[in-house]
Amino acid sequence: MRAVVVTEPGGPEALTLAERPDPEPGPGEVVLDVVASAVNRADLLQRQGFYPPPPGASDVLGLECSGVVAAVGPGVERWQVGDEVCALLAGGGYAEKVLVPEGQLMAVPDGIDLVEAAALPEVACTVWSNVFMTAGLRPDETLLVHGGAGGIGTFAIQLAHALGTRVATTAGSEEKLAVCRDLGADITVNYREADFVEVVKGATDGRGADVVLDNMGATYLERNVDVLATEGRLVVIGMQGGSKAELDLGKLMRKRGAVIAATLRARPTEDKATICASVEEHVWPLVADGHVRPVVHTRLPLSDAAGAHRVVEESSHVGKVLLVVER
Ligand SMILES: NC(=O)c1ccc[n+]([C@@H]2O[C@H](COP(=O)([O-])OP(=O)(O)OC[C@H]3O[C@@H](n4cnc5c(N)ncnc54)[C@H](OP(=O)(O)O)[C@@H]3O)[C@@H](O)[C@H]2O)c1
Repeated sequence: MRAVVVTEPGGPEALTLAERPDPEPGPGEVVLDVVASAVNRADLLQRQGFYPPPPGASDVLGLECSGVVAAVGPGVERWQVGDEVCALLAGGGYAEKVLVPEGQLMAVPDGIDLVEAAALPEVACTVWSNVFMTAGLRPDETLLVHGGAGGIGTFAIQLAHALGTRVATTAGSEEKLAVCRDLGADITVNYREADFVEVVKGATDGRGADVVLDNMGATYLERNVDVLATEGRLVVIGMQGGSKAELDLGKLMRKRGAVIAATLRARPTEDKATICASVEEHVWPLVADGHVRPVVHTRLPLSDAAGAHRVVEESSHVGKVLLVVER
């Protein structure tokens, strides 16, 4: 099979197509003919040599894909050759074929085409597991989503809005904020021009956000704690602003607040299977009825993985950038 690999860590030009042996399914595993994959920011870091795959995972990039079941290993009961699915991966998605533990496959939600389905697994599993399963966001609460126009942000806004929650979000331009409003954001903040703490508190009678979904890490830690409501939960899932900062525990204690930091990729297969099952049960019906849609910025061929990385690196995108396998 052909797969995108990194010859020497570096810029987008480090991504090259190489021949790799076709994977064979072991017990509880499935091989997919990949139809499309999608770019995640973690792929950019992996390409630069800063984010090695977890032990045992493929060194081929790609944390999610859609495809057709090509082979099933011993003991696999739910899936059959020919099934159309999407999958959460620990790696290997930028390829013609990929090996997946059976619990990390999900049915394609009704009404979603197989290429678009590649935009869903990573954002759905990340947002559902962090904001709902872990932070327990409730309909009577306010969610603040940083980076609302990105892949994660566009999904988080729609999902929280569909479940009846008030949504606040940050983005770096008026155009991006307009998209966020269309997706259901009630409070929008251009982080280049205004202080999100002031705006969110102003819009919530001084209460603040009950849950914050944060992509920035260090640079936003202090202000994220400031914006938290009493008994608020800050969930840090990205470190675009660095990994080390000072935390004022006194401030957090007075709010009885929580800071949670989590990454999906390193979680055990069983955890990922639990999350995928929960996403199929709770999130897919909202996708199937049109309340939550995949937001796709562009589709590029797998052979132009470098071009796809450039788009995400420039942050000129809204939603997801897909890589489509040419056959
Ligand atoms: N922990 C996990 O399991 C997990 C899983 C998936 C993703 N993630 C992380 O989640 C984050 C978002 O992922 P993604 O796929 O949505 O990436 P993405 O599509 O590139 O979105 C990132 C967004 O961040 C925005 N941004 C940049 N600087 C900002 C700032 N100072 N304040 C607010 N927003 C800012 C960018 O928009 P502007 O143009 O508006 O600046 C961009 O839309 C990444 O850090 C990623 O690594 C974590």
